[in-house]
Amino acid sequence: MLDHALELPLATDGVDPERIPYRTLPTGARMPAIGLGTFGSDHYDADTIAQGVLTAAEVGYRYFDCAAVYGNESHIGASLEAIQRAGVARDEMFITSKLWNDSHGDEEVLPACRRSLDDLRLDALDMYLVHWPFPNHHPPGCDVDARNPRARPYVHAEYMRTWRQMERLVEMGLVRHIGTSNMTIPKLELLLRDAEIRPACNQMELHPHMQQPELFAFLLQQGIVPVGYSPVGSPNRPARDVTPADTVDTEDPVIRAIAERLGVHPAVVCIKWAEQRGQVPIPFSVKRNQQLASLKAVVAEPLNPADMEALAGIDRNCRLIKGQVFLWEGASGWEDLWDIDGAVAEG
Ligand SMILES: NC(=O)c1ccc[n+]([C@@H]2O[C@H](COP(=O)([O-])OP(=O)(O)OC[C@H]3O[C@@H](n4cnc5c(N)ncnc54)[C@H](OP(=O)(O)O)[C@@H]3O)[C@@H](O)[C@H]2O)c1
Repeated sequence: MLDHALELPLATDGVDPERIPYRTLPTGARMPAIGLGTFGSDHYDADTIAQGVLTAAEVGYRYFDCAAVYGNESHIGASLEAIQRAGVARDEMFITSKLWNDSHGDEEVLPACRRSLDDLRLDALDMYLVHWPFPNHHPPGCDVDARNPRARPYVHAEYMRTWRQMERLVEMGLVRHIGTSNMTIPKLELLLRDAEIRPACNQMELHPHMQQPELFAFLLQQGIVPVGYSPVGSPNRPARDVTPADTVDTEDPVIRAIAERLGVHPAVVCIKWAEQRGQVPIPFSVKRNQQLASLKAVVAEPLNPADMEALAGIDRNCRLIKGQVFLWEGASGWEDLWDIDGAVAEG
């Protein structure tokens, strides 16, 4: 727990959650247009992240992006309970979790969801995502060259078995919305053809150097909310996930010039651009000043049209989270995970 009394429901310097823009989901529910990421990578332990959830709530965050595989849901659960005890109603919060790759199929989805609910100390999730479209998993922190011999390419019939169980969670009242993550247009087309409950959002990598314009436009056209992970360009991802070709958003001269003019950190420009473009950024930070700066960005004056145009022009199609560890034997490279040529990659 924090070493001071919680400043809840809102710290004096916080941003009133009522002022935060939101997206309306097909059920009519409101999803805040910014959330706090909770994946600490190799740098932050579960206690530090759970503390970060508390400070984020104090400055006005109400949306928390969690996942079983982040290994910290039980710690975050204690924070969510403390936040509610201190006066924030459950229905003022929006909590996402994700089904890990080892729990796809007919039998595993319900117990995995129940474990996340128990850990997070919740009766229901606002959003539950299929974290990756493959049942391929690996030991935490393994090298990018590691391959699981049981890993296989996307098999739509298998994905649909998992999706049916996700739909069942909605019917059971354990989950209010379901969604996807790390999907591509060809995979989503198959899912939209066969789903009884459509995905309410798709979580995907989105930052100025990775704008994914086709997938982004497809989602908007389908009424699916694009949620952008690594919105700052994940400057602290583990070294094993960094390749020499990767670019750094926060060092981009266009972003730096806008940041200097506005007197903010380049990360704040990335967040502002994201929200203004129409995606929901979920920046990670355990630092109160950064959390507050990102939140203030979404309620600040819009970037001017010239800024937005300049930012649209710096897309580098630079995917930072390549997903190599999910590859199967015989795959030609990480590009196979992303259906670059417009068709679902087969084994
Ligand atoms: N669905 C998926 O497969 C998937 C994949 C990746 C991530 N995610 C989600 O997306 C979240 C965010 O992604 P990410 O952690 O990869 O990258 P990110 O949010 O782009 O980068 C996080 C880092 O940016 C810095 N930062 C954040 N806000 C800042 C601010 N206002 N000013 C200055 N620096 C700031 C912090 O650095 P310092 O710590 O050095 O201060 C922080 O550690 C994750 O936590 C997770 O919830 C989902």
